[in-house]
Order: sequence, then C-alpha cells, then structure tokens
Amino acid sequence: MRKPLLAGNWKMNKTIDESVALVKELAPLIKDVADREVLVCPTFPALKSVADAAANTNIMLGAQNIFWEEKGAFTAEVSGPMLVAAGCKYVIIGHSERRQYFGETDETVNKRVKAALKFNLLPIVCVGETLEQREANEMMKVVETQVKEGTKDLSADEWKKITIAYEPVWAIGTGKTASPEQAEEVHAFIRGLLPAEVKDSVRILYGGSMKPDNVADLMAKENIDGGLIGGAALKAADFAAIVKY
Ligand code: 13P
Repeated sequence: MRKPLLAGNWKMNKTIDESVALVKELAPLIKDVADREVLVCPTFPALKSVADAAANTNIMLGAQNIFWEEKGAFTAEVSGPMLVAAGCKYVIIGHSERRQYFGETDETVNKRVKAALKFNLLPIVCVGETLEQREANEMMKVVETQVKEGTKDLSADEWKKITIAYEPVWAIGTGKTASPEQAEEVHAFIRGLLPAEVKDSVRILYGGSMKPDNVADLMAKENIDGGLIGGAALKAADFAAIVKY
C-alpha cells in the first residue's frame, strides 16, 4: 500500500547545464517505471531548468531546504511559494548536513515542515544518529526526539503528506551502509512513533550509501519504503539501477 519513493539528493553538486544533462540522461532509462515514485532534488539555481527538462516525464522535483517565511528581508533564504513556482513538489528538511554545519535544530525543522505544508509542498523529514550516539546506545532516543520534535503539532491530514528519511550519519557518503537488519530495526521503531491514523501509510526512506548492489536487500524489508540517495544519484546509470531495483 506504500508506493516506493526513490529520491536523489544532489546536495551541492552540478551546475545548471550539468543538472539538465543528468536529468535528460536519466529520463529515458526510467521512462517505463510506474509502480514507484522518482524524485530529484538539485540545487536551488538549477530547479527551474531541471523542472523544464523533466516536463512530461515521470521524474518529480524537490528542493533541499525551505525557509518558513513567505517573503521579505531574509537574505539568501528561499520560500515555499518560490519553490512551488520553480516546479517543486517535495522538499528535504533537516538533513544531517544542515544539522551538522548550519545550525539546524528540531525546532527549525518543525518550522520548515509547517511552512512546507502551508505552501503545498511535501516534506521529507530527515533523522538519524551519529556514530558516537549509536555507540553510546542513544540511537533510539535521538531518533525519537528528532521525529517527535520535528513533526510536532501536525494534524492527521498533515501527517498524510509527510515522508520520513532515516539516514544514519555514519553511513552518509562513507560507503558504509547500514545492514538491512540495522536499518529495519530503526525503521520499525520510527513506524511505532507515528500517529495511529497514518501508521501504515507514511513512507520511511533509508539514506546512507544506498547503491545499485544493496538497494534490493534494503527494499525487501517491511518498513523500508524507498531511499534518499546522495552520491549514487549523481550518475544516471546508477540512479536508474536503484530506481529499478
Ligand atoms: P550518500 O548516498 O552519498 O551516502 O548520501 C546519502 C544522503 O545523505 C542522502 O540525503
């Protein structure tokens, strides 16, 4: 009942031309895929060009962040209506790199989630523990706090629009994937935190060195409903292989 979502987070990679080239290379490789959703999340400057290049394909567009105000004197920020106008349907919120380098907190995650919902964007809320937290046995507590605080005060209708991404920080960009069992343990725990009305419908994506050769084993797990893919999403052939796991 949960349609898999395979989402490429391009992070701070690719110029406009390179982004358009990637989506044009990707589109024919996955054109027959209908039983799962495909999303790419380029940098802000490339959004509109990628949206145009992906028109009439099955590739959806997402942004990597959103500010909670609609407009005004907030230098360098980008608002929900601007993302919608550029063609975005989804927005990644609270990525661990935002938390680590840019002062993102559970409180600002919650503000962004509410702004995304207000402006008709679908939030992908990222959570995940560091290696230190895992080794100190704080993993579940960290993830629980991030999920609960990041999605605080949402109605059941709002919850229907949420996707959670579990990305253990130690697995991001390191080539070290969580084993399917390690990931499933946390995914099942996260599902247990969801409100009863949406427990079976909210998708929980896995992120962290997802690759063509490990995607099938991860996706075979009951509570893993897709992936948020970094490095491997930058190569059309690799991302297409992941999409078609
Ligand atoms: P990698 O796939 O490069 O490990 O990145 C995962 C990620 O952070 C996706 O948001």
